[in-house]
Amino acid sequence: MFSLVWLILLSYSSLVSTKIPSQDNALRGKSIIILAGQSNMSGRGGVLNSTWDGFVPPQCRPNPMILRLNAELTWEEAREPLHRDIDVTKTCGVGPGMSFSNSVLERDSGIGVIGLVPCAIGGTNISEWRRGGILYNNLLTRAQAALHGGGGIIRAILWYQGESDTENHEDARLYKRRLEKFFTDVRSDLLSPVLPVIQVALASGSGPYVEKIRKAQMEIDLPNVKYVDAKGLQLEPDRLHLTTAAQVELGRMLADAFPHIMAPLPVQSSAPKRFHNFFSELLRLFK
Ligand SMILES: *[C@@H]1O[C@H](CO)[C@@H](O)[C@H](O)[C@H]1NC(C)=O
Ligand SMILES: *[C@@H]1O[C@H](CO)[C@@H](O)[C@H](O)[C@H]1NC(C)=O
Ligand SMILES: *[C@@H]1O[C@H](CO)[C@@H](O)[C@H](O)[C@H]1NC(C)=O
Repeated sequence: MFSLVWLILLSYSSLVSTKIPSQDNALRGKSIIILAGQSNMSGRGGVLNSTWDGFVPPQCRPNPMILRLNAELTWEEAREPLHRDIDVTKTCGVGPGMSFSNSVLERDSGIGVIGLVPCAIGGTNISEWRRGGILYNNLLTRAQAALHGGGGIIRAILWYQGESDTENHEDARLYKRRLEKFFTDVRSDLLSPVLPVIQVALASGSGPYVEKIRKAQMEIDLPNVKYVDAKGLQLEPDRLHLTTAAQVELGRMLADAFPHIMAPLPVQSSAPKRFHNFFSELLRLFK
């Protein structure tokens, strides 16, 4: 454990002390946001009978400051549906990603380019997201490609999942432990031990154990993990998915939560302050 800490410290101090312009630019690169979970994160707003109505509300319109890492691991201007080439066995519609990004930029245009990395797949349970599984490996591959493709820093994971674990008691009982392990594994594999996570707490669901899942989500015992609550958001007539209007609202809620979580590395502060913040992060991590 301590050798790991020293390794992190050493690499960090070398970053600070050999401050050259290109590294500064790399630090100021994209604010990368990972979108993961199941169908509501992927986006089904406006989907009826397996057809998307094509309606894109103003809050979800494309913006040159919002990019998307497509299935070929290439950055392009983001537009709805964000998961169209990722969650390919279903019809995708509007999710929270564009509304989130436009809201974040509205509040603080100084944040620069936002790079969205869609990874959500409909119908998936938490066991399928375990370390070493296909979904997990894809998420890592995409996150690493995002980092290497033009620089930037992963600022947060937005996570909306749990419906598929409401069906039986055993899954619901194990949900908290599995979710904590998932967050911890991802942070560790992305070398970002306090990477901010904003979850969406399920409002309702098909199985009988929704309350148990909600409780698990709200009680996650890890630093820098927050949730916003989907309760009250409107569902499509299928009673399964959030409507486009609800996704716009959810994006805004996620954007409200975003500034209140700690950035993994302060992007534009001076080196001593960076160092100070970095230590506070470490302390929080090991508290
Ligand atoms: C969707 O499908 C159902 C049954 O297949 C049908 O009754 C309904 O009219 C369809 N709705 C639309 C908007 O196409
Ligand atoms: C999760 O989903 C997979 C694939 O649908 C299924 O095989 C597995 O039984 C599920 N696991 C749990 C714990 O529900
Ligand atoms: C989508 O989110 C709503 C609100 O939390 C929830 O009731 C529903 O079960 C979710 N659907 C799926 C498939 O996850």
